Amino acid sequence: MKRLIVAIDGPSGSGKSTLGKRLARRLGYQYIDTGAMYRAVAWQALQAGIDLDDPDAVARVAGALRIELEPRPDGVGVRVDGRDVTEAIRTPEVAQGASKVSAIPAVRRVLVRIQQELGRRGGIVMDGRDIGTVVFSHAEVKVYLDASEEERARRRCTEDAARGVSTDMAATRQAIRERDRRDKTREDSPLRCADDAYYLDSTGLTIDEVLDRIEALVEQRRGKPCSRD
Ligand code: DC
Repeated sequence: MKRLIVAIDGPSGSGKSTLGKRLARRLGYQYIDTGAMYRAVAWQALQAGIDLDDPDAVARVAGALRIELEPRPDGVGVRVDGRDVTEAIRTPEVAQGASKVSAIPAVRRVLVRIQQELGRRGGIVMDGRDIGTVVFSHAEVKVYLDASEEERARRRCTEDAARGVSTDMAATRQAIRERDRRDKTREDSPLRCADDAYYLDSTGLTIDEVLDRIEALVEQRRGKPCSRD
């Protein structure tokens, strides 16, 4: 059976990674979180004391970095030059930094090339902001997952609480708004819904409801039901 490319785009906190991980598990595909790659670049630049507003310096960091994504039972592990940064890249500071470095075209060129190579053979679920519009504009399945700003902030706070980090709802909402604005208005590959993507607003839906709808879409394209987990 043909192994498809499933592209999932959408704003932060829309549930892309939860959906992506579970869908990949059901399909027996590899899950690739491209946001983690932009976070890895930001993390490394911050560690090195590099000014994130200096595009040449950040691009050099991206070009020299070895990023590895490894499937784990609870998600995906991220290594930068061999060092495990899975948790370290999840801070609000790195999130804002990732949004900044992702606006630098030279950084995007490096990471997009890696992403295209990873997905070349199909059998992948890849989530990000430009997967259906740029990285795999020919993907067989494209999803644009959205949710209200309030719901996305609530989900982010719940996730943080589960990791033992206490965050303020108003501050989280403000950070999300700022990141949305930057991600949607940048010149290179801004976040937008591809013309041929399936738009789904997940506000008020459970993850299982979202998963069922997307799975049905994949089944249509594959022509055969997937096995359930
Ligand atoms: O999905 P995330 O929150 O981990 O992404 C971090 C930042 O990286 C986000 O602000 C936008 C950017 N990003 C991007 O520009 N393109 C992608 N394909 C993935 C993420």
